[in-house]
Amino acid sequence: EKGGYPHFMLKEIYEQPTAITNTVSPRIINGAPDFGIKALTDEILKSFKRIWIVACGTAMHAGMVGKSVIEQLARVPVEVDIASEFRYRKPILNPDDDLVIIISQSGETADTLAALRLAKEQGVHTLAVVNVVGSSIAREANSVIYTWAGPEIAVASTKAYTVQLSVMYLFAIKMASVKGLIDEKETAKLCDDLLALPAKIEEVLQNADNCKFVASKFQNAHDIFFIGRGLDYSLSLEGSLKLKEISYIHSDAYAAGELKHGTISLITTDMPVVAIATQSHLFEKMISNIKEVRTRGAKVLLICKKGTERQADLSEYVIEIPDYNEYFSPILTAVPLQMFAYYTSVLRGCDVDKPRNLAKSVTVE
Ligand code: F6R
Repeated sequence: EKGGYPHFMLKEIYEQPTAITNTVSPRIINGAPDFGIKALTDEILKSFKRIWIVACGTAMHAGMVGKSVIEQLARVPVEVDIASEFRYRKPILNPDDDLVIIISQSGETADTLAALRLAKEQGVHTLAVVNVVGSSIAREANSVIYTWAGPEIAVASTKAYTVQLSVMYLFAIKMASVKGLIDEKETAKLCDDLLALPAKIEEVLQNADNCKFVASKFQNAHDIFFIGRGLDYSLSLEGSLKLKEISYIHSDAYAAGELKHGTISLITTDMPVVAIATQSHLFEKMISNIKEVRTRGAKVLLICKKGTERQADLSEYVIEIPDYNEYFSPILTAVPLQMFAYYTSVLRGCDVDKPRNLAKSVTVE
């Protein structure tokens, strides 16, 4: 059932190109996204003035990328919330203007389901992005977009996350196009770029040996920092969560510009740093942040685009992702982060697919 792979997690990492193709290609019709949802006509989509994305854990991290890409492309303000916070903070929802997007792999997460119910009670349209067909969240939401990742068995989410990201992109392109912010040609180009991502992921998957090598260098660390800016900050949070949940190495993720506001005092020769720098407009800023931590002795793994101008001696280790439309880099960056976490866990002899204290579906609050 593991299809020849030693763990479900590795199998699921390798299934990502197919999962994304299955999720994206049926939703692109004549060069534009089409979710086939009757309740969400273009007119209705155009009318939303604010979007909330509510989820837990990795799904919430997908929501953070969703916020960046929807705001960038469709110019609609998006608020991302952790379901267990959202439901207890009396969110100010407006049924006329707001859309609530709920993201969940299992469709059964207790806090996420409760958040959905709260939004529905207030008369706000709820759109669920769910992997498990017929799950509670899928049944109760006003509209559903299924991610077609297939069953995800490993507790640590991998393919469910990247398909959630692909739906966030489709949604952002759709919103931008109905709002007339991108024309037909631009819409079709973005859809083509999204459809071509699985082939780029295949390229990233060939870096497995390098990820394993870096994991062997970092496996004995007690703490690891992840830093990034913009989209790469959201990926830092996800990379950090993945690493700590399956390898039991403590790690934290920071917006790179925040280091000097306190946490840089934790940097020593014993604190390796994973620096994600895939965004050209933020690259110079990241270089300064990397220099700051290296001056204090940190060993750095840099994750960046192939061919990115690298100053000599910028980092001890490098993992490159293909040079591709940067807007989509999160889907490519996710993969080496997953592999890094996976190999670190394996090298430390941890139970990769079933980390201690965790369940695949969190149906209690
Ligand atoms: C981490 C992980 C969890 C889930 C979270 C939400 O690898 O899998 O953080 O993302 O428990 O679960 P779903 O998406 O089923 O609502």
